[in-house]
Amino acid sequence: MTQPKLAHLDEVYPMLPFAPVSGAGVYLFDGAGRRVLDLYGGHAVAALGYGHPRLTAALVEQTQRLCFQSNAVPLAIREEAARALVAFAPAGLDRAFFVNSGAEANENALRLALRVTGRRKVVALEHSFHGRTAAAAAVTWGAAGSWYGFPRLPFDVEFVPRDDAARLRGAIDRDTAALIIEPVQGVAGAFEVGRALLTAAREACDTHGALLILDEVQTGMGRLGAAFGAELYEVRPDLLTTAKALGGGFPCGALLLPDAIARALKPGALGTTFGGGPLACAAIKTVIEVIRDENLLANVRASAALIRRECLRGPVVSIQGAGFLLGLRTRPRAALVRDALLAKNILTGTSADPHVLRLLPPLVLEAQHVECLAEALEDCVDEAVQ
Ligand SMILES: Cc1ncc(COP(=O)(O)O)c(C=O)c1O
Repeated sequence: MTQPKLAHLDEVYPMLPFAPVSGAGVYLFDGAGRRVLDLYGGHAVAALGYGHPRLTAALVEQTQRLCFQSNAVPLAIREEAARALVAFAPAGLDRAFFVNSGAEANENALRLALRVTGRRKVVALEHSFHGRTAAAAAVTWGAAGSWYGFPRLPFDVEFVPRDDAARLRGAIDRDTAALIIEPVQGVAGAFEVGRALLTAAREACDTHGALLILDEVQTGMGRLGAAFGAELYEVRPDLLTTAKALGGGFPCGALLLPDAIARALKPGALGTTFGGGPLACAAIKTVIEVIRDENLLANVRASAALIRRECLRGPVVSIQGAGFLLGLRTRPRAALVRDALLAKNILTGTSADPHVLRLLPPLVLEAQHVECLAEALEDCVDEAVQ
């Protein structure tokens, strides 16, 4: 296998023994021509797979026309991307603030919630992951005790169990600015928090005037077979964040907010240099158009059902999650299964749960690719993995 040479990079990431140099559709290729089926999508980013002609054309065209300008000037493409995203998003979120990553979207959502309510506490769920910047990491489960890296938290944080609606209700009070939730916890291993908890969250926020922030950085943009988890679980967020698949590989994020909150903001309340740049906006607009034109939400629903039907075999004992954010619970450690699958030219990912293998495939995945996975899992039966 090709091992990349890392002489000059900070070695903070464990890396897999596969070095892609190109991609086409749902496949990646290394320099020696080895072809790998990508069921992980670069941490849920490659929504349209690799080399989608419409995304490539949009980026090339926008690069040639105008490759950057900041928020100091109006841009037609920024307005078009915002219009497309607001139309794609749940009703009531009428404004988009574009940023560069999921953490930055959450950072701004938390900043807004604290400012708008004038309160000092944020409630989050155990096992959540919201990003590595100061505020996003403050509401990330376990971060403060391990990699957080800042001397103190920027606000009070209370974590509650992810399956206890009563504890959740009890944690939200008149000091609570916001409750932040991933509808399906991604890094935790594709754990669906479920409709009942989300409904309780909405009610508790309404009762005490707290804002409900849905972190759809990983679940959004069609990954669950609906545009957003908010629709799938029928819960109305006050603020919604998204990133990852949003630009189909072009780095970007967004915070969506209702008119009423947007109107209360003074100029300068939020800011960014690169957020909402023309290339990001061309990518966002195109990703949304392709999801619609190629009927990808229906494809996610059908192919996810097929995975659930066909892939409960070999080392897999159960399947959790929703749509294309799936956790395959494995009898051996998930990392062993991931390595065995990669040896068979299938790329998957692990999660914070050592026995959950994560699938985050491109939304363009087809039945034939699911069959490849099912066969490879079956083959794992006889291997060291068992
Ligand atoms: C739910 C969720 N929120 C936020 C983030 C942080 O996003 P980013 O890495 O783009 O900052 C992630 C990244 O994995 C995530 O899964």
